[in-house]
Amino acid sequence: MDYQWYPGHMTKARRMMQENIGLVDLVIELADARIPLSSRNPDIDSLCGNKARILLMTKADMADPARTALFQKYFEDKGFMVIAMDARTRKANEKIKAYVEKACAAKRERDKRRGIVGRPLRAMVVGIPNVGKSTFINSFAGKASAKTGNKPGVTRGKQWIRLNKNLELLDTPGILWPKFEDRQVGVNLALTGAIRQELLEEQELSLELLNFLQREYPSLLTGRYAPEGETWELPMDNAQLLTKIALARNLLKAGGEADYQRASKLVLDDFRNGKTGRISLEMPPQGGDESERK
Ligand code: G4P
Repeated sequence: MDYQWYPGHMTKARRMMQENIGLVDLVIELADARIPLSSRNPDIDSLCGNKARILLMTKADMADPARTALFQKYFEDKGFMVIAMDARTRKANEKIKAYVEKACAAKRERDKRRGIVGRPLRAMVVGIPNVGKSTFINSFAGKASAKTGNKPGVTRGKQWIRLNKNLELLDTPGILWPKFEDRQVGVNLALTGAIRQELLEEQELSLELLNFLQREYPSLLTGRYAPEGETWELPMDNAQLLTKIALARNLLKAGGEADYQRASKLVLDDFRNGKTGRISLEMPPQGGDESERK
């Protein structure tokens, strides 16, 4: 993914968001279920003001279900309507539509009092790059949807996707940028593939991942990499573990030594493709403080 976080980019994205937010009744925010804290930009709260909001935790199919359940409760306790989902499928569509109505009930009431009936609700999808915005829009809108086209003066050239008579979706999602408050946020975003990993060397990143997996998911590690009949005593030194993985997978250099580069790539690819197992890198913070990212 070629997206870089230059200040100019961020300012432009922010301006577009501000412009578009005025046009919608509802914001559908996406966060990656494996890193719900690192993949949310806290500025969204001020950007959204008092717009109705729904939080979708995408890529839940790759996340640890127990942790996803904890996060769902954590965000619900903060007053969000939350749905954990695989954005590639349409399974959550009905639930999302029901939540949209619920989230906008007050708006509907206001409209009714003013004698406005039958006006569809308008929603915008927002999230950081790669979180699944276009995937979600495609499966939520589906083939049945029709673009409503431009309505001069009202939409200022915006394209709306009509989902049904009650709901329209802005076809361009709002891009938020991740917030690098600390190094761990950058590591989490690079591990899940949300940002380019040149920021962190592949090998350094794979050692970070091994360190985390040894601590939090040791059985998934041995299950995937320890050869049949071999017992690996974890935790061990991360570099030593990477060597063991390289040897177990026959990733060797010409002289027969472990090829760290290929082993690092394997470990990262396996994690990103969900082959290592269903893994979440974060846990809800104790005491409700989002700054306590893992
Ligand atoms: P964006 O518009 O927010 O930038 O994200 P986009 O929809 O392009 O999704 C990024 C990648 O994430 C896509 O993979 C997409 O298939 C995948 N994805 C989105 N939502 C989900 C989900 O809920 N579960 C899973 N398992 N994958 C999801 P891709 O096209 O293969 O791109 P890449 O992985 O090669 O970057």
